[in-house]
Amino acid sequence: VRPGGCPARTTMPGMGIRIAMLAAECEPWAKTGGLADVVDALARALGRLPAGVVDGPVDVFLPRYRGLAEFPDGTEVVESVVRVPDPRRPAGVSDIRIVSAEVNGYRLRLVDHPAAYDRAAFYGDAGGDYADNAWRFGLYCRAALEALRADGRPVDVIHLHDWQAGPAAIFRDLRYADDPVIGPAAMVMTLHNLAYHGWTGNPALSQLGLRPGDGVPGQNADGVDLLAAGIEGADLVNTVSPGYAAEALTPAFGMGLDGVLRSLGDRFIGILNGLDTTVWDPATDEVLAAPFTADALDGKARCRADLLARNGMDPADDGPVLGMIGRLDPQKGFDLLADAAPTLLGRGWRLIVQGSGHPELADPFRALAHAEPSRVAFVERFDRAMARRIYAGADAFAMPSRFEPCGQGQMIALRYGTPPIVHRTGGLADTVVDETQAPGAGTGFVFEEATAAALIEACERAAALRADGLATTDRTTSAWSSLIRRGMAVDFDWVTGSAPRYVEAYQRAIALRTASRPATRP
Ligand code: GLC
Repeated sequence: VRPGGCPARTTMPGMGIRIAMLAAECEPWAKTGGLADVVDALARALGRLPAGVVDGPVDVFLPRYRGLAEFPDGTEVVESVVRVPDPRRPAGVSDIRIVSAEVNGYRLRLVDHPAAYDRAAFYGDAGGDYADNAWRFGLYCRAALEALRADGRPVDVIHLHDWQAGPAAIFRDLRYADDPVIGPAAMVMTLHNLAYHGWTGNPALSQLGLRPGDGVPGQNADGVDLLAAGIEGADLVNTVSPGYAAEALTPAFGMGLDGVLRSLGDRFIGILNGLDTTVWDPATDEVLAAPFTADALDGKARCRADLLARNGMDPADDGPVLGMIGRLDPQKGFDLLADAAPTLLGRGWRLIVQGSGHPELADPFRALAHAEPSRVAFVERFDRAMARRIYAGADAFAMPSRFEPCGQGQMIALRYGTPPIVHRTGGLADTVVDETQAPGAGTGFVFEEATAAALIEACERAAALRADGLATTDRTTSAWSSLIRRGMAVDFDWVTGSAPRYVEAYQRAIALRTASRPATRP
């Protein structure tokens, strides 16, 4: 580091890029949705790239929520304390513990501050979002930046995920522009979902140490949109599929951010998520009644029987079984399945649905499961093991999402030999090939409109192909089993696919950051 100035190029040639991620969720430590899986899988995959690409381990900062998963026995844990600017303290600072441990090939760094994170939930309770979320996540971001400063090592890229990391994009230029570690760092912002903005109205700005009219990224006359802050403040922005990236530029999908996204031009890109194929592998999945592979599908029949028996259904009934798993959120289209259910049940389908979240979306499934317990099962909880059994044991998997930045369920279903039935939107459109439109080349069934009728029609197409397969003498050569095998062969590997795309994005962000900063002072 040159005295008083910024380092010209932060990393030694050949050492690779040093990366720190800020994300509010990371599997298996803290999860409410797909964000957690993606952050974990990307951090792992970056750690497995050829030597010299990444200066590992990647740092992943996470708030230390209540009830976080325990570290495995024998994990070496390092604790430190950083002094963090805290607008809510009379002295203006809080001392915050950073608990770091290398796990799964990355360095997890927990921001430990019970007043902020030791609560019943991550984001809010029955009354809605916590009123001090701007403080909580602002503090989290500043603690992460202070921890990086305390390391004293340059960091090339700070990778922000969703609105909870947005404050970091504000603080970098507002508070750390001359800091030798944070100032030169490039920022990449990944949008996993445009529906959540972390809106912070003017009366709450003090929680971030900000005032109306500060002119920071994401700010307007009424307050600060923390998602927009990340978008405007980062050097490069991406979302998690090319399809959703294109949709996000339109008013129908942009959730009010399409204008700012359009203004980024080629600094806004889509990178399709991968799937952690070591975590999701029917050949080694210990939860399953039997392992299976594309070449030996017998185990899949045992998984089906096991799933049905566990849910009080008749395993001998050959009729099609439709699985669906997800957050009970209007995005996911559970209501479409609920509306379609009477027709589907009338046509011989059985349903196994798992989800938790909005109670009003659960009501119809509770009622259906109560009325027809042998035909509808509703698992109203977040049950990792049952989810795996559904992916493996159902005959088809529904994802009627109204919008879907990427989606993971359809990729898992493909890998577990369960053809997905999906709405043509976002990442679903990018990952599932419709068998009716491309006979012999498809991997699932795609429908055009987010309606119950369109979902039913796609289910009918799936049921017909499946019935043909069951009727053939050699079931292993039917069009249905070929469809299953093609789906299982789709390669979503992070290490060879998505992680290298992120490395390219990091390199571009570094170049953009370098170009946008005034020349290094002598
Ligand atoms: C969000 C999106 C989902 C995406 C996930 C991970 O949960 O809704 O589509 O797969 O983030 O990027």
